[in-house]
Amino acid sequence: MKRRQFIRFGAAVSALSIVKPSQASQIMAKSYEGNAGGAIILSTWNHGLAANEAAWAELQKGGSATDAVEKGVMVTEADLSNRSVGVGGRPDRDGHVTLDACIMSGDSRCGAVAFLEGIAHPISVARAVMDRTQHVMLVGEGAHKFALEQGFATAKMPIPEVKKDYEKWRKENKDLFKKPDINHENHDTIGMIAMDAKGQFAGACTTSGWAYKMHGRVGDSPIIGAGLFVDNEVGAATATGLGEAIVRIAGSHTVVELMRHGYTPLAACKEACMRIVRKHKDLTGLQCGFIAIDKDGNYGAYSIYAGFNFALRHNEGAALIDAQFDRNW
Ligand code: GLY
Repeated sequence: MKRRQFIRFGAAVSALSIVKPSQASQIMAKSYEGNAGGAIILSTWNHGLAANEAAWAELQKGGSATDAVEKGVMVTEADLSNRSVGVGGRPDRDGHVTLDACIMSGDSRCGAVAFLEGIAHPISVARAVMDRTQHVMLVGEGAHKFALEQGFATAKMPIPEVKKDYEKWRKENKDLFKKPDINHENHDTIGMIAMDAKGQFAGACTTSGWAYKMHGRVGDSPIIGAGLFVDNEVGAATATGLGEAIVRIAGSHTVVELMRHGYTPLAACKEACMRIVRKHKDLTGLQCGFIAIDKDGNYGAYSIYAGFNFALRHNEGAALIDAQFDRNW
């Protein structure tokens, strides 16, 4: 959907919001008017609210967008009650918590780690890959060795309550090749994108991935272009949901490229979701969502099913907003 069509669509959405004023559409309607190029931060899910506050504080004290997104998602990585990100994350089917993360700045610098065990803040290791090596991605043992060499804190995972859940799951799931359930409890991720007051973008994405996944499985979150993509010329996008589906369409890069060609953030997120829908015969449990910001400060979010929300922070305050969705596919 191009910008002009989108404005018409926006008017319809605003009308709907009169009926249900608590819904996101009313707040989303603001995006049609733009945000005057001021600083803005968007994160996936309600854990994004606390993360956004830390990121916003970083911007307020003069930190870069990259500093802000790293500091922001570290809050979620450290939250022991969070079962899909960081230290409190669920393990794979062999009992290992393996963490994936990436970070990208708008000048195309990026770093990532995947299949990383025993390190408290994978996002900071990803940042160190970006800042201190000539590489983009380190995985597994190599990433772990690098993290230790660089002095990053270790953490024992799974934490006891997660281990207990896992042991129960193992007892109840003898067929380890059965497709594990995907739901909001086990498959969230924090993806955060930010634009600072000077129009510089950055993004970060970090997850423990699909709960009870096969050992060695890596999803979209640490893959630049899938879980996250940032380009100062255009804007930024990040993803949450079933990583396999997001990787197949290079989801976040797709969103940014659509914005490059005139799509609004919402329209770009929707087209990425529809591309996933078109490529899958069985959509059972196939939840994916995208959030995006363009260089004018417009933002948008769309998910295949209902239930995905995102946290917004800008000069006027903070909000938790339901993403748009449309079951007519
Ligand atoms: N989107 C997170 C994952 O699939 O691992």
